[in-house]
Amino acid sequence: MQHIEKTLTTVTSNTEMMSGAHLMWIEDPDIARVAHPGQFVMVRCDDLMLRRPFSIHRVVGNQVAFLFNVVGKGSHWLSRLRRGDTVDVLGPLGRGFDINSTARNLLLLAGGIGIAPLIFLAERALPQHRVVLVHGVKMSRQLYFQPLPEKVEFVPVTEDGSMGRAGVISEVVSEFLDGADQLYACGPLGMYKVMTGMVAGEDGANKFKVEHCQVSLEVRMGCGIGACYGCSVPTRKGQKRVCADGPVFDLRDIIWKEIKI
Ligand SMILES: Cc1cc2nc3c(=O)[nH]c(=O)nc-3n(C[C@H](O)[C@H](O)[C@H](O)COP(=O)(O)OP(=O)(O)OC[C@H]3O[C@@H](n4cnc5c(N)ncnc54)[C@H](O)[C@@H]3O)c2cc1C
Ligand code: FES
Repeated sequence: MQHIEKTLTTVTSNTEMMSGAHLMWIEDPDIARVAHPGQFVMVRCDDLMLRRPFSIHRVVGNQVAFLFNVVGKGSHWLSRLRRGDTVDVLGPLGRGFDINSTARNLLLLAGGIGIAPLIFLAERALPQHRVVLVHGVKMSRQLYFQPLPEKVEFVPVTEDGSMGRAGVISEVVSEFLDGADQLYACGPLGMYKVMTGMVAGEDGANKFKVEHCQVSLEVRMGCGIGACYGCSVPTRKGQKRVCADGPVFDLRDIIWKEIKI
């Protein structure tokens, strides 16, 4: 049974970090104590009827961070909160990433703001595991530039070639797949569709020796707690709710051709 708290928390800082993306820290000992990488929270944004889901980006002591793109009403409202303001947060929610105890080399693929939950994963995986983190964005000012967890091997990829490798993640990822025991990804649907072709063959067999490939899905959510079924996706094990059965799924369990995000 997952531990769910709904609390009024206090914002301790909120700054624009990458182009169009904010890093917000809140003080929340309850979430900080039990949060697991890949889990998310539902945040009440102003007077909007539906809470908005955001991944847990980092946990340090009693502080919890979110990294979010400003895309609409809710995230715009959040971006204007200042130190000392209160925010109503429900969480931590969902099932996060698993790390197999026998795995040594972890490959993390972040498409854009998909880096948000992967930093938390990297922090928890180190120092027991080697972590390679590939971050793909359109241009260099969207790259993650906060101090990275020590020993993370960071591979920047920009579509316009302004920093790091030029291109998109799916074009460079095959270079890193061979050494990886486990693969984790968070990014747009198109990235996952390409990955299914690279990681699993037509018969479902691995082309690369990646034992587990876990992806975090971002879909529109209603309740966020498994009650409304508004976030259901087709999987090989039937319809699953992203908020309660995910948001992390095995890449090969999702029926990608039937999914619309
Ligand atoms: C489990 C989960 C974790 C998430 N973690 C993060 C995170 O860490 N950082 C982050 O920036 N975003 C994250 N998102 C997406 C985030 O929830 C949406 O960007 C947010 O709800 C938008 O709210 P809004 O009111 O600002 O925009 P709205 O006014 O609701 O929408 C603005 C635009 O964004 C699109 N949009 C809204 N929600 C989503 C969504 N869930 N998926 C795709 N497109 C959407 C809409 O179609 C519309 O075009 C996550 C989503 C899920 C389901
Ligand atoms: S959002 Fe309501 S069941 Fe997932």
